[in-house]
Amino acid sequence: MTDVLVTTEPSTDAIIGYLVYRVLPDFVEILDVRIHPAHRRLGCALALIQHLISKAQSIEREALCLEVSTSNSPAQALYRQLGFATVGRRKSYYPDGSDALLMDLKFSP
Ligand SMILES: CC(C)(COP(=O)(O)OP(=O)(O)OC[C@H]1O[C@@H](n2cnc3c(N)ncnc32)[C@H](O)[C@@H]1OP(=O)(O)O)[C@@H](O)C(=O)NCCC(=O)NCCS
Repeated sequence: MTDVLVTTEPSTDAIIGYLVYRVLPDFVEILDVRIHPAHRRLGCALALIQHLISKAQSIEREALCLEVSTSNSPAQALYRQLGFATVGRRKSYYPDGSDALLMDLKFSP
């Protein structure tokens, strides 16, 4: 099942960011997370992913996983801050030639 979480600007209710994910039998995969440039570094992405972590735990999935480009250092910093670890790499995966890092966050039993 693919689904989306959104975050909104409190005064206008305008959507300023989203997180697309899918629930698989053992884990939840983050497919995309994006925050409007004017609203970055305010904790919006962190809050969306923390919400998804709670949801994944509540439905008894073992982990969150995702892939991120080696050229995307802001996203890598975000995921590392949340405790994600690199568990694999796909060479030259993206159109710009960068590798994909496979990252996951395993939950304690
Ligand atoms: C990556 C992205 C989602 C981060 O969203 P955000 O709401 O600005 O992130 P947050 O404010 O929640 O940041 C949380 C932490 O992530 C890290 N981080 C986020 N952006 C960063 C940046 N530009 N440089 C360094 N660290 C960064 C920091 O550790 C930050 O904590 P801090 O602000 O206390 O230092 C956003 O930059 C974005 O939409 N980028 C374009 C789309 C994209 O690359 N998505 C990821 C696809 S895999």
